[in-house]
Amino acid sequence: MDSSHPPVAGIVHEAPDSTVRLRPVAEDDLAMLRRFAVEPGLVGLDWAGFRDAAAPARRFAEDGYLGERTGGLIVQVEPAQSGPAGFLSYLQGQYGGRAPYWEIGIVLLPEWRGRGIGWRAQALLCDYLFSHTPAQRIQAGTHAENTAEQRSLEKAGFRLEGVVRACEFRAGAWRDGWLYSRLRDDPSPL
Ligand SMILES: CC(C)(COP(=O)(O)OP(=O)(O)OC[C@H]1O[C@@H](n2cnc3c(N)ncnc32)[C@H](O)[C@@H]1OP(=O)(O)O)[C@@H](O)C(=O)NCCC(=O)NCCS
Repeated sequence: MDSSHPPVAGIVHEAPDSTVRLRPVAEDDLAMLRRFAVEPGLVGLDWAGFRDAAAPARRFAEDGYLGERTGGLIVQVEPAQSGPAGFLSYLQGQYGGRAPYWEIGIVLLPEWRGRGIGWRAQALLCDYLFSHTPAQRIQAGTHAENTAEQRSLEKAGFRLEGVVRACEFRAGAWRDGWLYSRLRDDPSPL
């Protein structure tokens, strides 16, 4: 191994057929982020109506999606035809007096779903956040009918904690959420 480039946790996962890489947002990715804001249903069940399509450019100009308490990384698959495969978000929350945790989210473009990318990307993000921040807990919420994300989170090392009743208003009704977590000491599947 080249000692000038030691392994970096949570950036790259190599498999025989593909490499999943997390990287910062670049200007060319803004087109995908704008699509997520204005194409109904492209983000899946999290679609909550049209959003400001200029917001991604503003956020990119502000901090490149790399804030202290909220951020986002691009999911890149190599070798890829072109462009990003999706987007991961992380947001800091706090339960106890001084117990910050992360809540993560993911959306892959439809052409990249169901190909073993999502769980690897989410597992990478956990390794990345556990490596670079002292958080003990990473949580993720999903919907009762989102079996793909439920299974993806389990494969990424998360465990189901329970049902959060009526936590989101979506598609005309208040709906329950399923809350998952991965703790620092839970084994990484990567
Ligand atoms: C949810 C999402 C991130 C999952 O990523 P993915 O790459 O498609 O799925 P993975 O390859 O990680 O799948 C993991 C497991 O889920 C299963 N799975 C994938 N798609 C599925 C589907 N539509 N229905 C049921 N199971 C599914 C896979 O078979 C795999 O399980 P297995 O290894 O036991 O076969 C991705 O589909 C996506 O971006 N969906 C739209 C946005 C979204 O729903 N985000 C989460 C919001 S809470």
